Amino acid sequence: MPELVPQKGPNLIAVTPRLAVKVSRKGDLASSASAAKQTDFWEFPAWAVLAGSGFLVLETNAETNNGINAEPNAIMAIPQGTGCSLTGAGFQFDAEIVATPASAAVQNAVTIKLSSPAQGPALDALIGSQRKVHHIEICENRDVESSDRDHGLREYSFMPCALPELAWDDLDTKTKFLGREFEAPILITGMTGGVERGSHINHNLARAAAAAGIPMGVGSQRIALDDERFAGIFNVKKEVPGVFLIGNIGAAQLVGSRSREKAREICLRAIDMISADAMAIHVNVLQEMIQTEGDRDFRGVLDCIAFIARDFPVPLMIKEVGAGMDPRTATRLASRLGTALHAIDVGGRGGTSWGWIEGLRAADPMTFELAKGFRDWGLTTGMALNLARQAIPMETQCQLVATGGIRNGVDVAKVVALGATMAGVGLPLFRAALKDTNEVDAALGNFIKGLKTVMMCTGARQLSDLPGAVIKTGPSHNPTRGTLS
Ligand SMILES: Cc1cc2nc3c(=O)[nH]c(=O)nc-3n(C[C@H](O)[C@H](O)[C@H](O)COP(=O)(O)O)c2cc1C
Repeated sequence: MPELVPQKGPNLIAVTPRLAVKVSRKGDLASSASAAKQTDFWEFPAWAVLAGSGFLVLETNAETNNGINAEPNAIMAIPQGTGCSLTGAGFQFDAEIVATPASAAVQNAVTIKLSSPAQGPALDALIGSQRKVHHIEICENRDVESSDRDHGLREYSFMPCALPELAWDDLDTKTKFLGREFEAPILITGMTGGVERGSHINHNLARAAAAAGIPMGVGSQRIALDDERFAGIFNVKKEVPGVFLIGNIGAAQLVGSRSREKAREICLRAIDMISADAMAIHVNVLQEMIQTEGDRDFRGVLDCIAFIARDFPVPLMIKEVGAGMDPRTATRLASRLGTALHAIDVGGRGGTSWGWIEGLRAADPMTFELAKGFRDWGLTTGMALNLARQAIPMETQCQLVATGGIRNGVDVAKVVALGATMAGVGLPLFRAALKDTNEVDAALGNFIKGLKTVMMCTGARQLSDLPGAVIKTGPSHNPTRGTLS
């Protein structure tokens, strides 16, 4: 085997799903009079299956490609060091062949190396885009939620009011969040849409958010920060200027080898990219640990967030993604960031489970087994909300968002009653946005109708009346064990 073939290792990760690309010999030798042999010009389709550290391992179709230009075993004849151009998914890389099929064992693999290290971030973006494609396919088609759907809210009910003395039009669902007034306490939580469908999804969500008068987050902007050609996926304000938009980046992508200054610059670029009205930094330790290629180094994360937060140009929110913000971390954040911390999304378990999604995505059975053990990991949304409400003094003015398994207007009313300013909704709106804006409008309309129905049936004219109407009835699986006599 040629010695330059990089072995699968920590720096070379699976591209899943594998990505269709085209490899062409550099230059226009086909039309050159000096192109004596047919093999002087070639082009063949392939699949990128492994990537990292500037290398790509391509799987070729031995049957068709070995006959390129009607020459048997033509790929095997390509000399190492030959310059080539690789195109696919909107990318174009200059590269060189470093290993061609040399034996029966590797006859389908061609390894190429980027000619310029400067193209490394674009290659990383390419790999990241494939990861997102996979996440989206899984969220669209598989059961990605916690196995018991326990979001910790079933143990709460509302005391009904049989004579509410209210009319439907009296009900006021308006709320103030991050310095703005919104029509309802619902946040379309940040969700990634990938390269091909991201723009469609984000625009569907943005139109619906603007029409409903509620805020929306975008998914992680990492891909567009690595390669600005992807910025258009997130920049919905061009078409929907009125939407309140929350930017998004992962804490794991701000630490590691990066300086605090670099991390702050990344956040500022993310804001600029979409004219964000606020910024969310998401924390997803569990997902990063289970993800085969996840970022494993969170050292210095609180220091880094505190540094970024100083004189930050827009309100800042720290967002858990399904494990439930623990009260100790909420306290540490509040005391380090002070008034620079505008909101915490407690992101509890009970809804979409990202540790589990990474298991569904993994190529190896051991990662799947690992993820199974963490499908229901963490504090439920209800528990995380209660604990954060106790941990964060009201004087800090840090608002709380409750995301994770919010599936209807009753859930929205419950988290508002328990102290959240906003209920964050993800998966149901994501699935609606894969279709069209009308689907998102309809889904949101039903959430709001459910919330107003709770208000009407409890005699709550405004959201601030809801805390007085909520009661703890005990685990819903066994209502007779409740505290209500
Ligand atoms: C398809 C999809 C993509 C997501 N991408 C991101 C992301 O890029 N950044 C982030 O902070 N959260 C992301 N999330 C997490 C959501 O913001 C939310 O915390 C989570 O889905 C729980 O809410 P749910 O149970 O209503 O889905 C994503 C969720 C989904 C369903």
